[in-house]
Amino acid sequence: VQEHTSFHLIQISSFANQSWAQNQGSGWLDELQTHGWESKNGTIIFLYTWSKGNFSNEELKDLELLFRVYFIGLTREIQDYTSELQYEYPFEVQVTVGCELHSRDVAKGFFRVAYQGSDFLSFQNMSWVPSPEGDSRAQNVCYVINQYEDIKETVHSLISDTCPRFILGLLYAGKMDLQKQVKPEAWLSSSPILGSSQLFLVCHVSGFYPKPIWVMWMRGEQEQPGTQQGEVLPNVDGTWYLRVTLDVEAEEAAGLSCQVKHSSLGNQDIILYWGHHLSMNWILLAVIAPLMLSIVFALWFKKRCSYQDIP
Ligand SMILES: *[C@@H]1O[C@H](CO)[C@@H](O)[C@H](O)[C@H]1NC(C)=O
Ligand SMILES: *[C@@H]1O[C@H](CO)[C@@H](O)[C@H](O)[C@H]1NC(C)=O
Repeated sequence: VQEHTSFHLIQISSFANQSWAQNQGSGWLDELQTHGWESKNGTIIFLYTWSKGNFSNEELKDLELLFRVYFIGLTREIQDYTSELQYEYPFEVQVTVGCELHSRDVAKGFFRVAYQGSDFLSFQNMSWVPSPEGDSRAQNVCYVINQYEDIKETVHSLISDTCPRFILGLLYAGKMDLQKQVKPEAWLSSSPILGSSQLFLVCHVSGFYPKPIWVMWMRGEQEQPGTQQGEVLPNVDGTWYLRVTLDVEAEEAAGLSCQVKHSSLGNQDIILYWGHHLSMNWILLAVIAPLMLSIVFALWFKKRCSYQDIP
């Protein structure tokens, strides 16, 4: 039933020099951003009406305070230990912390830290573990922070209790938005491939939600093996966009179609025909539209006449 099964916070901390640091934070339900972080005042930004889940304002205030203290403390510690641990400015620290909900009772918490874009250390079974990429500096950092039992307790409780509870509350409160179905729009475009007799056909599919979708270039019932799927990319309004392309000999383009299956469409797949069929459709439309219009007009005229007949 639930497509959304993970919640995580992202922290990006930039250290320019001994006196300048910046922290950015955000909260994500799978790939949907639900929270921001106002770093000047140290407050949580709730991006949706349901972003508080079922947590009380009190519990949220406590979490906000915890994050504020964490950001201030972490920044100071890092600045203090930078020269001691032989780090050089500028550098960037990225943290992702959260949990994956596999079922109502099974959750897996995580806390991972990267330094300059490479895995550095993570939290596993109540202790900090250096990543293989993290060299001796990661080992040193883990050695130091493993001595703070209360921090480990707090992290453990956050990722294995607070986080799964929060997800369940979010999923319930945000049900309307999260289970929405938005139909895709699709259109075709093409360009010649320079120096060849081939065409580059593009099937654009945009504005759909949720993310899973099936798009294929077809000839009749036959899937075209040369079909290339792009990456599903986010639109600004929270819907998704996908480009599916095919290289084809120009004279073989006629008769190809792009077929789209998506949960919002039920069984009514979108099928767009390339070239020949497209123009056939336009020809049909050009013939049928005036015909329909004249029938409608005739009916209307007849009706008007019969109204006038009524004494
Ligand atoms: C520290 O970095 C900030 C941001 O890049 C810069 O504006 C500031 O002048 C730097 N300060 C020193 C002492 O280098
Ligand atoms: C929120 O909902 C979850 C799941 O139904 C529940 O376990 C939790 O106790 C509720 N309340 C809070 C404050 O977490």
